[in-house]
Amino acid sequence: MDSLIIEGGIPLHGDVEITGAKNAALPLMAAALLTARTFTLRNLPPLQDIQTMKRLLTHTGAQWHDGRTITIAAEKITNAEAPYDLVKTMRASSLVLGPLLARTGVAHVSLPGGCAIGARPLNLHLKALEAMGAEIAINEGYITAKANRLKGARITFDTITVTGTENIMMAATLADGVTVLENAAQEPEVSALAECLTRMGAKIDGAGTSRITITGVSELNGVDYTLIPDRIEAGTYLMAGAITGGEVTVRNVPPQFLQATLDKLTDAGCVITTTDHNITLKAPQRLHAMDMTTAPFPGFATDLQAQFMACMTVADGTSIIRETIFENRFMHVAELGRMGADITVDGHAAHIKGVPHLSGAPVMATDLRASACLVLAGLAAHGSTEIQRIYHLDRGYEHVEDKLCRLGAKIRRVKSSH
Ligand code: EPU
Repeated sequence: MDSLIIEGGIPLHGDVEITGAKNAALPLMAAALLTARTFTLRNLPPLQDIQTMKRLLTHTGAQWHDGRTITIAAEKITNAEAPYDLVKTMRASSLVLGPLLARTGVAHVSLPGGCAIGARPLNLHLKALEAMGAEIAINEGYITAKANRLKGARITFDTITVTGTENIMMAATLADGVTVLENAAQEPEVSALAECLTRMGAKIDGAGTSRITITGVSELNGVDYTLIPDRIEAGTYLMAGAITGGEVTVRNVPPQFLQATLDKLTDAGCVITTTDHNITLKAPQRLHAMDMTTAPFPGFATDLQAQFMACMTVADGTSIIRETIFENRFMHVAELGRMGADITVDGHAAHIKGVPHLSGAPVMATDLRASACLVLAGLAAHGSTEIQRIYHLDRGYEHVEDKLCRLGAKIRRVKSSH
């Protein structure tokens, strides 16, 4: 397993080009299953999760041509299935459930197990499909969903769910009648999916608000769509500037994608300047401690919680970070502790007493965003940090060490043969 070695303590300076958003790409690739026509997606990030979704498309009988631009042709679905070996490596595989069911009348999708950050069940996806007339059975670890044609329904999500909203929105595009989604997720990735589906001929109103209305059509056309930039990647690099006392510009990301993060970093003493597509962060001598609570968009993203915590470990004062989306997303706390951070966890709240500096140590990545947090901590720490199990990081960050090197970081990957 590869690891990263970081020599910390260097303020980062420079520009980073932000690539296409993983969490927009995955539902969009699944949406290709809704049409027999050619579906072209541009600006695709070359990440492990994208490779997993390609394998899943192949499994269903769809064909694709590779590159940063992918062309998918799901002319015939020969196998409406998401098998366990793919779902277990990537939970977002469940995004094919809605499209396969709507297109073929049946879907056979492995249930994901628990995951490092929480239980993450699919009950809300299934309840919504049942409301649309699907018959759902769970046998031998698989969900089997059947419906000759789904019917429009009014669905209120008990909890805001991003992929749940996406799955049901996709299914509803080909349903008979009108579907109204209440308490829908408002993330930019949901809006991007709605925009792409609309270009394919779907009738969708209200994406980006908490009520989305979808009027079903009988079929969808092909499309040529360019992915939105990855706001979580952008937020991570901005915080790399913040924690090292540097100045970093992220290019090609609209500031409104990250407003809650920018506000919080400003409160912590950073100076943020923006244009339509670029954001520059200039860090203070030392960050001020700031409390933060995660929330669905437009709130502070849970996917940036761990990175913000890394920043707060070296801030002046004590901060409380509350995680409201996932029940177990503090796996990075113990690893930060190995680097000298002073953090205690009380249920869903972490109390962080800022220390003057962290010190390098060998640490272990436990999930994607926890890995990013450890990279930031390593960049700021005195001495050398080795981060093991960085395959988690490769699921969501393209060429992370190259991008950080261009900002002046001393970071290298050590390949391992096993
Ligand atoms: N939930 C349920 N039942 C459901 C669905 C969700 O109880 O049927 C709960 C979850 O357990 C969680 C909360 O609802 O406590 C919100 O989960 P959500 O469904 O919104 O998460 P997701 O759609 O599985 C996406 C992102 C995650 C991101 C979350 C929250 C993708 C592919 N994944 O997951 O991204 O953390 O939304 O914003 O879009 C990451 O990129 O590192 C990542 C984990």
